[in-house]
Amino acid sequence: MDEPKEVTIQTYQGWEEFYSIEKSDKLDFFIRNGRMLDILFSQQFDRSFLDDMCILATQIRRMALTKMGAQKLSGLLSHKRAMLYFVQPSTRTFISFLNACHILGMKISEIRGTTTSSEVKGESQEDTIRTFASYVDLIIIRHPEEGFAEKTAWLLNQNKLPIAIINGGSGPDQHPTQALLDIYTLERSFRNIGGLDGKKIAMVGDLKRGRTVRSLSYLMRNYRDIQLYFVSPEVFRMRDDIKSFLQKHKIEFHETDDFASVMPDADAIYMTRIQKEYSEAPAEESDIYPDFHFTKEHLAVIQSHCIIMHPLPRRYEIEVEVDKDPRAVYWKQERNGMWMRAALISYIFGVNDQISAEFR
Ligand code: NCD
Repeated sequence: MDEPKEVTIQTYQGWEEFYSIEKSDKLDFFIRNGRMLDILFSQQFDRSFLDDMCILATQIRRMALTKMGAQKLSGLLSHKRAMLYFVQPSTRTFISFLNACHILGMKISEIRGTTTSSEVKGESQEDTIRTFASYVDLIIIRHPEEGFAEKTAWLLNQNKLPIAIINGGSGPDQHPTQALLDIYTLERSFRNIGGLDGKKIAMVGDLKRGRTVRSLSYLMRNYRDIQLYFVSPEVFRMRDDIKSFLQKHKIEFHETDDFASVMPDADAIYMTRIQKEYSEAPAEESDIYPDFHFTKEHLAVIQSHCIIMHPLPRRYEIEVEVDKDPRAVYWKQERNGMWMRAALISYIFGVNDQISAEFR
């Protein structure tokens, strides 16, 4: 069992006020020298940025195939250091960021829980982060608290510390880099049928607390004629903040608990697991919801180009048998994350042009 710990609660003057500002009204705050320094929420990305990142991810993927290309990549950021501060469970996001940093030659430090840091002595998380800022150029944060990564960026910007912050998952709120790799997967899968524009996407499962579907939904404003189908049990419906955003941007969406009715029309089915860790209900409460599972029988019902996605980890949502079908792209999607994160980090540090120059 973990040692009991006491963490100091501190309030920083001005933070609450800053946090209450609409996201779209504070994008400039996270920009330095004409490019984003901090990557905190999906509302920061526009279409040209998304298109550029998809191209860059593919260029990095191709360069990494040869020893010479890989060596070039690993020289690009060999003078930079990154900190991975992951205080919420993670397997693939952590490994994916770690390897993305390695591809670019960065040096890494990591903290994967608070029990071995000075937080045990009562240091506030904010002070812990300021300490990291003394040593590194980039801090990647996975944290259970919504807004923690943003608070860190705000705090360091207040102190004129040009340290980049990336949100690697902020509680049930957002997961912007997952949304980037999801876009990359969608665009790549649909590259012969006109890309993501005009497609019908079904998001299935725990839409209320699943941060991946929330971040991805925000990005839909960048694509033309998208139709979203939110398929979930009544208790896990998409929250109102996302629905108002979609309404404001005139993005068509439908809500239903009838998965079977949506399957034949969808171009992409994005499965998610029930986020039980946020549940206040008794442990024995069901988290299975078989009506929201994708089984091998469903493969006969969906279109021949319809892709099946999942941010993973999977529990019962997708039968293992489905993995063999070429339309099941979740393992590719996972791997796409590493290339996309390398693209993002190369952008933050302004070495993306050196990569693209290899392809002129
Ligand atoms: C997701 C997450 O952590 O939000 N996983 C991931 O980062 N690939 C999805 C999940 O945990 O259900």
